[in-house]
Amino acid sequence: MYRNDIMRSMKTCFNRLNAMLLIVFMVMSGLSLVAQGGNGDLPGDPDAGKKLFNAQCAACHKLDKRLVGPAMAGITERRSTEWLIKWIRNNAELRASGDKDAIAVYEEYNRSAMPAFPLLSDQDILDILAYTIVGDKPAAPAGDAGVVATGTAPSDQGSGVNIWILALLSAFLLIHLLILIKIKNTLRILKGEEPTSAFEDLSKGVQVAVKNRKVIMVSTIILSVFLLKELYWGLMSIGVEQGYMPEQPIAFSHKIHAGDNGIDCKYCHYGAEKGKHSNIPSAALCMNCHTYIQEGPKYGTQEIDKIYAAVGFDRETNSYIPGYDQRPVKWIRVHNLPDLAYFNHAQHVNVAGLECQTCHGPVEEMEVLYQHSELTMGWCIDCHRQTEINVDNGYYKDLHDKLKEKYKTQKVTAEMIGGLECGKCHY
Ligand code: HEC
Ligand code: HEC
Ligand code: HEC
Ligand code: HEC
Ligand code: HEC
Ligand code: HEC
Repeated sequence: MYRNDIMRSMKTCFNRLNAMLLIVFMVMSGLSLVAQGGNGDLPGDPDAGKKLFNAQCAACHKLDKRLVGPAMAGITERRSTEWLIKWIRNNAELRASGDKDAIAVYEEYNRSAMPAFPLLSDQDILDILAYTIVGDKPAAPAGDAGVVATGTAPSDQGSGVNIWILALLSAFLLIHLLILIKIKNTLRILKGEEPTSAFEDLSKGVQVAVKNRKVIMVSTIILSVFLLKELYWGLMSIGVEQGYMPEQPIAFSHKIHAGDNGIDCKYCHYGAEKGKHSNIPSAALCMNCHTYIQEGPKYGTQEIDKIYAAVGFDRETNSYIPGYDQRPVKWIRVHNLPDLAYFNHAQHVNVAGLECQTCHGPVEEMEVLYQHSELTMGWCIDCHRQTEINVDNGYYKDLHDKLKEKYKTQKVTAEMIGGLECGKCHY
């Protein structure tokens, strides 16, 4: 009797433990699958690949960033291995065969052709691709995303390491589970019962787990924490984009133009004075100077050739190609308020007389343009509270006269002319 009781309680105990471990195991392996995603292993040597990449590709490609060509991390998820081998060996040939994807990337990158690499063997290319998957192993220091964002969400970082930890944990738990089943069966034999199969045990474990509240609670908590974390990073990266610095299709430098050569912001962004939007200049405007300035100090002819590819200018003959199908340069937008907010440049540049730099920072020093200010509602409001307006600018004469009378010696701020009213900034 007594002995049977012990056996029974031990049995329940093992069942519960089994169930717990099983659930944790399933969640873990589920997570590692999610984390890994897609095209896993390629038969290549990443170390050899890294050497080749640095020697042959790094001038134009980075793993995590767009340079002259697209970022290479994740390329094996976007394209098949077969396609990649063909492209890397001779992309012009692939395009000539009418391959749609090949033509599309070429167009996207303003027809700046990538050289052919006829000397790379299949294995060399597989090595390079393996390197694009594995990357540089020692995880990059967790970058200060707020200040120098590179466009990757913080949650992407170090996921390679996580996969290994998850895999190890899963293996560890699986071994424990098997040992427990072994012990339990030994006990059953001692008791004179038939041993059960591992499969029976597992399915019993699941049954118990589904009925056991604690197990359900624990796994719900694990899952929720995971989801909340994803949601949190998601929301963080949707909201505030301060520091956002995308790689542009042409390495246009504000430092060279607005800084070193002192070109006025409004020569290019003439829209800022006139209306809501500050325009981005067309390639035709670039040609005012670049018909003559055909080489740059840093990239030589390479980047300026992209302007020529956009407008159809032939540097050999120094003339426009007749009948050329012009294509606008696809600049990547840096600043972007949500649709619910209304912002008007002329109001701030002309009426308020603010310098571009007050909001956009030291643009004339930027090699690559980035978002300097938060662009949150609090940011707009703070400035409206603090900034004194010019009541003699002749724009709202009646209102200004009333305000001058009302506040006399006090300073009149943007707040006082209605700068905090919801309707002024929201449609
Ligand atoms: C001189 C610059 C340059 C070099 C060197 C270069 N590439 Fe490229 N690559 C580009 C450009 C530009 C593109 C975009 C497509 C286009 O304009 O032809 C591109 C596109 C690609 C693509 C297609 C990307 C996609 O999204 O489909 C792959 C893959 C690629 N390169 C791999 C390599 C590899 C591997 C090497 C080294 C062996 C290499 N590239 C060397 C400039 C270069
Ligand atoms: C020679 C023309 C030229 C001059 C001069 C110039 N810009 Fe630009 N600007 C551009 C081009 C082209 C882009 C788009 C590419 C980029 O973002 O770098 C741009 C982008 C920008 C953007 C980001 C737009 C977005 O996508 O949100 C800001 C802000 C900006 N310029 C401000 C300035 C300020 C301030 C000055 C003066 C200090 C200035 N620019 C001078 C050509 C010019
Ligand atoms: C008012 C004249 C002017 C305009 C307009 C102009 N640039 Fe430039 N650009 C220059 C000068 C000057 C240089 C520097 C040449 C040098 O130092 O050798 C330059 C250099 C460059 C370079 C070479 C960078 C390097 O380091 O190699 C690029 C690329 C470039 N400009 C792109 C553009 C684009 C794109 C536009 C139109 C949005 C544009 N420029 C409009 C005057 C201009
Ligand atoms: C009071 C702050 C402020 C000042 C001053 C200001 N900007 Fe902006 N700028 C913004 C905001 C906010 C946006 C984003 C607007 C949007 O997404 O609708 C922006 C966007 C831009 C853009 C992207 C195109 C667009 O209009 O959305 C350019 C280019 C630009 N600014 C250039 C300039 C230049 C050049 C000056 C000076 C002549 C200037 N800005 C002055 C706040 C400012
Ligand atoms: C650097 C200071 C500054 C920032 C930042 C700023 N503003 Fe302003 N804003 C002003 C000033 C000054 C005026 C008053 C102009 C005048 O004299 O009429 C103004 C006026 C306005 C007006 C017109 C108010 C009225 O009653 O006519 C609107 C709308 C506005 N701002 C929206 C915004 C939005 C939206 C943002 C944020 C995206 C923003 N502002 C950021 C300084 C700023
Ligand atoms: C000076 C301009 C300005 C005024 C005044 C203003 N807002 Fe906003 N508001 C903004 C901007 C800009 C955003 C977008 C900010 C962002 O994306 O972080 C915004 C965002 C919001 C949002 C969305 C919040 C979010 O996180 O997406 C709400 C809701 C909102 N405002 C309500 C109001 C109400 C209510 C008032 C009046 C009491 C008001 N706003 C007055 C500029 C203003």
